[in-house]
Amino acid sequence: MLTHDRIERNVAWLIVLITVFVSIGGLLEIVPLFFQTSTTKPVNELVKPYDALRLAGRDIYLREGCYNCHSQMIRPFRAETERYGHYSVAGEYVYDHPFQWGSKRTGPDIARVGGRYSDQWHRIHLLNPRDVVPESNMPAYYWLDRPLKDPIIGKKMAALRMVGVPYSDQEIADAPKAIEGKTELEAVIAYLQGMGLALKQTR
Ligand code: HEC
Repeated sequence: MLTHDRIERNVAWLIVLITVFVSIGGLLEIVPLFFQTSTTKPVNELVKPYDALRLAGRDIYLREGCYNCHSQMIRPFRAETERYGHYSVAGEYVYDHPFQWGSKRTGPDIARVGGRYSDQWHRIHLLNPRDVVPESNMPAYYWLDRPLKDPIIGKKMAALRMVGVPYSDQEIADAPKAIEGKTELEAVIAYLQGMGLALKQTR
């Protein structure tokens, strides 16, 4: 007890020791996550790397700041699962760099929005949300209906491969062709339509 008393009275030792012990605690929590199957492997075979068009759409999602209003993580609570479907699991996000979980929900969570609406619905909704949801306060992204230009799409895929996304050389080489002639709107819709299908529940 005498030692404890001394440590508490010595600010420098207190800081050093707290740092050491909090770090040990933190590492014990964090490090195993890098090696667990549940966090490093796709939850099932439906989880696939984003194809070129969806990847370009995802980048537009980031550019436009959609994440400021939409989370992509369904919490494991009844109120959430009844509304959105199966709660999110880590193995659905292994190819997301960076992931878009978020917590700000001005709009609904969209982790499982894939397949919920038609492409045409998304088209109208993105160009002017109030055309389909009159009370919506989501901004109109009318400028998205323009040609998609992403000259470094192949390089982006190569960079993602370095952090573990298994793109083949062929996929990377074909990327510019895959997005040729597409619009930004089509890319965003492709991204949205593929979202959360791995654990989708039919409701
Ligand atoms: C200012 C906040 C805000 C921003 C920014 C925003 N949204 Fe929304 N979004 C909403 C709100 C509120 C709703 C619910 C009303 C509606 O459907 O329009 C919504 C609904 C949606 C829906 C339908 C979800 C469902 O399950 O019904 C999709 C899809 C969507 N947004 C995609 C996007 C995309 C893509 C972007 C970026 C290009 C974006 N949102 C940006 C607020 C926002």
